[in-house]
Amino acid sequence: MNTTATAFDLSTDPALLARIATLPPSFRWGVATSSYQIEGAVAEDGRTPSIWDTFCRVPGAVANGDHGDVACDHYHRMPQDVALIKELGVDTYRFSVAWPRVQPGGRGPVNEAGLAFYDRLTDELLAQGVDPWVTLYHWDLPQELEDAGGWPNRDTAYRFADYAMMVFDKLSDRVDTWTTLNEPWCSAWLGYMTGDHAPGRRNLQDSIAATHHLLLGHGLATQRMRAAATRPLQFGITLNMATATPETDSEADRDACRAADGLGVRIYMDPLRRGAYPEDVVADLAAQGVQIPVQDGDLEAISAPIDVLGVNFYFGQVFSGLDENGSRTDGDGVPVVRDIPQDLPQTAMGWPITPNRFTELLTRLSRDYPGLPIIITENGAAFADTADESGFVRDDDRTGYLAEHIAAVADARTQGADIRGYFAWSLLDNFEWAYGYDKRFGIVRVDYDTQQRTPKQSALWFKDTIGRIRGAV
Ligand code: NOJ
Repeated sequence: MNTTATAFDLSTDPALLARIATLPPSFRWGVATSSYQIEGAVAEDGRTPSIWDTFCRVPGAVANGDHGDVACDHYHRMPQDVALIKELGVDTYRFSVAWPRVQPGGRGPVNEAGLAFYDRLTDELLAQGVDPWVTLYHWDLPQELEDAGGWPNRDTAYRFADYAMMVFDKLSDRVDTWTTLNEPWCSAWLGYMTGDHAPGRRNLQDSIAATHHLLLGHGLATQRMRAAATRPLQFGITLNMATATPETDSEADRDACRAADGLGVRIYMDPLRRGAYPEDVVADLAAQGVQIPVQDGDLEAISAPIDVLGVNFYFGQVFSGLDENGSRTDGDGVPVVRDIPQDLPQTAMGWPITPNRFTELLTRLSRDYPGLPIIITENGAAFADTADESGFVRDDDRTGYLAEHIAAVADARTQGADIRGYFAWSLLDNFEWAYGYDKRFGIVRVDYDTQQRTPKQSALWFKDTIGRIRGAV
């Protein structure tokens, strides 16, 4: 890629760059992807369907009827993609492993042909001097395990720990950092409560059981991996967390924020770091007849020590405790928690751009859950890109988003939060779940007709910024 071109303005706002410049040369920089969003090759080398393969076939579930059958064809283009990662100047690549490739059906023996892909990917990254950062579960549950009940079924947690060990046994001689789950809130809430994500179920009790079993799977896998480690490794989990700001200072709005924060942040962070579910969340759920299915020993497993917290951040939220008619409860008597639209610039997802909330979240996490280094495992934005004839996208909007959010991370560090790195979401335009291919998050454009990759302006800016921080520019 041409990094000397000056047809674009890398300067942006000097005040912003000065804040970014407070990041240390040792800061870790990366790009992130996930298996189903980029790999394609869904029926090759023994892979069996995941819940996303099934969900994509449900009429109306995914925009345009899109699916991951080909996606970015990364499975066949991996060496070129690793060369591209190297060219971006990052030191880390965060990727996920597809469970149904490694253990078709989610039970039984390892599928060596599927695991071999991640073995080759790891070697290729190391050969290029890029650190592999593995996420074991980024939402592609083997369909057979969903047929047996999915995450609401306790057995899935044990199946996950077995699968984790298959990957660990193969790659832990070379992979230093192990993330168990990506955004369990999305798996549990969007998958089993709202039905917007696979498997598309809608039941609060199932969603809360899924939350607990995801956390249990994380804990069991972490305990087993750490016990089997023969050299110092890092273990962690990646959570998506937003800030909850009350629309007004009323008691109703503040209580709506408490409830939203309970289900979005504390139901994960409290058991992970304090070994207990938050009492107010347990009480809110009980009032709706819902129980967290905790058994003896579960919380010890869930709170097994971790070395790093992955934080994915996209936007902060504002809540009201009143519905449009001023009522505090809905038709079922459940307290209202209403997400209020914010009068702010938005991304193509309709998400408000709230970098200050990022600083707020990070300082809050380090205050409420101290002693745990944080890595930003995802941050980025979809915008309606326009490519020129060569495929180049001059994405000032995405570049500005990245700059503002990296500056927000630097501010949180300046205020004392222990943040060790930042990974852009995403390396490539890819399959954006229920939005299909319409929403482009890549800092590299993918032409889905030709599979041509073209770094966008944001990628050039990112590379330049990393070089400056390292003192190499
Ligand atoms: C978080 C998810 O981990 C990722 O898969 C998704 O594409 C981004 N958010 C953007 O929505």
